Amino acid sequence: MSNNIEGKVVVITGASSGLGEATARLLSAEGTIVVLGARRADRLQALTNELTGKGGKAFAVVTDVTHCDQVKKLVDAAVEKFGRIDVMINNAGLMQQSPLERLKVDEWDNMININIKGVLYGIAAALPYMKKQKAGHIINVSSVAGHKVTPAGTVYCATKHAVRVISEGLRQEVKAYNIRTTVISPGAVATELPSHITDRDSAAGIQKFYEGFAIPADSFARAVVFAMSQPDDVDINEILFRPTRQEL
Ligand SMILES: NC(=O)c1ccc[n+]([C@@H]2O[C@H](COP(=O)([O-])OP(=O)(O)OC[C@H]3O[C@@H](n4cnc5c(N)ncnc54)[C@H](OP(=O)(O)O)[C@@H]3O)[C@@H](O)[C@H]2O)c1
Repeated sequence: MSNNIEGKVVVITGASSGLGEATARLLSAEGTIVVLGARRADRLQALTNELTGKGGKAFAVVTDVTHCDQVKKLVDAAVEKFGRIDVMINNAGLMQQSPLERLKVDEWDNMININIKGVLYGIAAALPYMKKQKAGHIINVSSVAGHKVTPAGTVYCATKHAVRVISEGLRQEVKAYNIRTTVISPGAVATELPSHITDRDSAAGIQKFYEGFAIPADSFARAVVFAMSQPDDVDINEILFRPTRQEL
């Protein structure tokens, strides 16, 4: 394990597109074993085939992170198949921006369920194994929206602030078990994320913003590799990165 990455068993939620997919590709190329979770089975299978076709070890479990038992099954499958879980990347997320007065309550619920509860369920699934191993690394995905609040981004920003709070609490609580914790907060990265916005005005604004600034998803994957590849006694707790041209 010269780079402290090779051979590690890494579970990634939201691996069917965007940041999760790019991370699976880069980590697999670096010699990790990747266990992929998301809802779209066809996308997961295609990625698994691609990675194994290149000689990597990859395995997919269709997972909806809003169901605690499904996230547990994903992590259990990783441990059953590969004997341990070294890194849990709680990446699955949803951004549906709209002004509060439009009362898109279902979208608020979806973001809370995926972005907050999904992260907590990932922690619940991985922590018992990592405690027993006395080793592990939990990487949660927040956002610049976890540092700033923007109009029409209120609920999304609230969920991403929550991810940072959960990550800091987790960091303090798991010291005794030799578990590392990292929260990564990206700026605008070109993925499917903005495509789920149903509020027309917000969608138009975000599209313009992303068209102007967004950087490729492997920017995130490299941040993951940086955090993972540190010596075991170095814990990179927070990474905040933006496109160089992004001001907010
Ligand atoms: N792109 C950016 O600019 C940016 C910036 C800051 C933070 N982020 C964060 O980065 C993370 C990844 O987003 P992305 O940009 O890569 O967007 P994306 O391309 O839309 O990917 C989102 C991923 O989450 C999965 N997902 C959504 N709901 C899920 C559920 N209920 N259960 C399981 N998986 C679910 C999706 O897979 P399925 O649909 O197949 O389930 C997909 O793989 C999110 O947490 C997002 O908030 C992104």
